[in-house]
Amino acid sequence: MPGLRVVGWGTAVPEKVVTNRDLEATIDTSDEWIFERTGIRERHVGGTTASLGTEAGRKALDQAGLTGADIDLLLLATTTADKIVPGTSPTIQHNLGIAGGAVDLNAACSGFVYGLVIANGLFASGAKRILLVGAETLSTITDWDDRGTAILFGDGAGALVLERTDDEGDLLSWDLGSDGSLTDLLYCNHGEKMQMDGKEVFRRAVRVVVDSATTVLEKAKINVDDLSLIVPHQANIRIIQAACQRLNIPEEKAAIVIDRFGNTSSASIPLALVDAIENDRVHGGDTLLLTGFGAGMTWASAVLRWPH
Ligand code: UT7
Repeated sequence: MPGLRVVGWGTAVPEKVVTNRDLEATIDTSDEWIFERTGIRERHVGGTTASLGTEAGRKALDQAGLTGADIDLLLLATTTADKIVPGTSPTIQHNLGIAGGAVDLNAACSGFVYGLVIANGLFASGAKRILLVGAETLSTITDWDDRGTAILFGDGAGALVLERTDDEGDLLSWDLGSDGSLTDLLYCNHGEKMQMDGKEVFRRAVRVVVDSATTVLEKAKINVDDLSLIVPHQANIRIIQAACQRLNIPEEKAAIVIDRFGNTSSASIPLALVDAIENDRVHGGDTLLLTGFGAGMTWASAVLRWPH
């Protein structure tokens, strides 16, 4: 069965930077506390989900040497669509001149990996090229007076251009999960701001990441020693450290951008992946583990081989 290959990538973040020191002026917190407890130094804030998604998508197309006319589907992973209706993907589709369809998908912070797995299935049933975008403006649903959440979130976008292969492709294995009995841990009602039980999300996140990552490594028959890079959802550096420790993955093998971008939900995995690519940490034939978790709760992992 045909599968997918990554042929382009791009990211976008708004210009405005909000540092931990900036937050000290408005809430009872400190740069030291935030950095020690989360690994975050600053986050970018601003723009719209459509504008950030468009910019990341355009860079990914340019990088692949393609235009919107070459794409038959836009998949947008987001929890912060600009409007309730319509979805934000048609705006990005229009901005980029994409020839095919466009759809939003919301699996919270697991959305980008969900999108990757869905894209893989669509290649098996005839799609030729898919633009997968993760874009968020979490600042619009953050309560900036709540120190339990305001310190964590940021805005940004990342995109991959995916192409159908004649062979089985580079998505070697995947695992998708959901436990809707846990919706109360992290949610945002219409017209309100995000609510989170941080401690409980933390505890469960480590558990689901370890289980899901173990599942995909086993499915792909990959030993942790043969893993080149882990690209985890960037929610808290301590979650990443705890998961790496339990999985016996040296922390040096983790792609980390949380210090600069905070938690950008669907955008965090592509932001971390593209940062690793741009810093020459990803090479042809490498085996990457992408793993995310988030509200729902949902979780998603995939083993991806990097093309030569
Ligand atoms: O995409 C998925 C989304 N979310 C997550 O993954 C979030 C997962 N959870 C977390 O990252 C962490 O639970 C937080 C960063 C949200 C909180 O860190 P924590 O280590 O779990 O702190 P805590 O809630 O146990 O609070 C410890 C102390 C408390 O003071 P006392 O009771 O010990 O005196 C808090 O009141 O730190 C206090 N505190 C703060 N102090 C300064 C809580 N938030 C802050 C703050 N600044 N922003």
